[in-house]
Amino acid sequence: MAAGEAKIDPRPIGMFDSGVGGLTVLHECLVSHPHEDFIYLGDTGRFPYGPRSIEELRSFAWQIASHLLSLDVKLLVVACNSATAAALTFLQEQLEASIIGAVHPEAEAAVQTTRNRKVGVLATEATVSSGSYERALLNLDAGLETFSQACPQLASMIQSGDVSSPEMVEAVKDYAAPLKDAGVDTVILGCTHYPLVTPMLQRVFGRDVTLVNSAREIAREVGEVLGRKGIGNDTAREGRYSFLCTGDEKSFVEVGARFLQMPFENVEHVEISELEKIEVG
Ligand code: DGL
Repeated sequence: MAAGEAKIDPRPIGMFDSGVGGLTVLHECLVSHPHEDFIYLGDTGRFPYGPRSIEELRSFAWQIASHLLSLDVKLLVVACNSATAAALTFLQEQLEASIIGAVHPEAEAAVQTTRNRKVGVLATEATVSSGSYERALLNLDAGLETFSQACPQLASMIQSGDVSSPEMVEAVKDYAAPLKDAGVDTVILGCTHYPLVTPMLQRVFGRDVTLVNSAREIAREVGEVLGRKGIGNDTAREGRYSFLCTGDEKSFVEVGARFLQMPFENVEHVEISELEKIEVG
């Protein structure tokens, strides 16, 4: 390679989530990195991850990471906050591949945003009980006050229904109330589904509270890693994207299109029984 000539790595980026929520992250990545190829795996057959144990999520994450790495991805993105909370450190310790996840990028953005050093987190039970966001936030600023609110049902409600129903408004108000009472000025949306109810959350919290969106922060981190490792694709080309899911393909496309807001095709099914044959490292 001639001196000064940029390296090109044409391999795709792998990304996974418990279901369709991570498509909000894929959407941001397709906008921010339009020349990259992506393979997205939605574990819709085992959704939701929120109520599951750390051990269970760790084996799911291991199986999916191993499957995506067998497809020769150059970077693995754990879009799901619950899977990140349970397994990111484990995957990074055990695997040679470049792997990034949620939590840290959002924590960094929140620390840079807050003025009163009171930061709230809305996330699944698995993410909140892992304490991952508190650790990440306090590692960046030990003087912060953090307030985490588990939102059981919220991801399932967003995935299955009408995001502007009266029940949704009530649920959002209930989950937001303890954070409002605590006087937070910054709230991390610590679940890939929650950006779909951003307008409602913003109205409940008011204009003075900044909502930190995991999709935007992960897309920024993807760009940073591609640049730092010199593994970006040819910027003159248009990237492609394709999907794998463990549940029903038809409903994945129907529900997923709402999250991705882009053309949605190239969906293949992956058998959970095949993933389960992969031994956890
Ligand atoms: N995608 C998951 C996350 O970001 C939430 C949905 C679930 O419970 O599976 O935490």
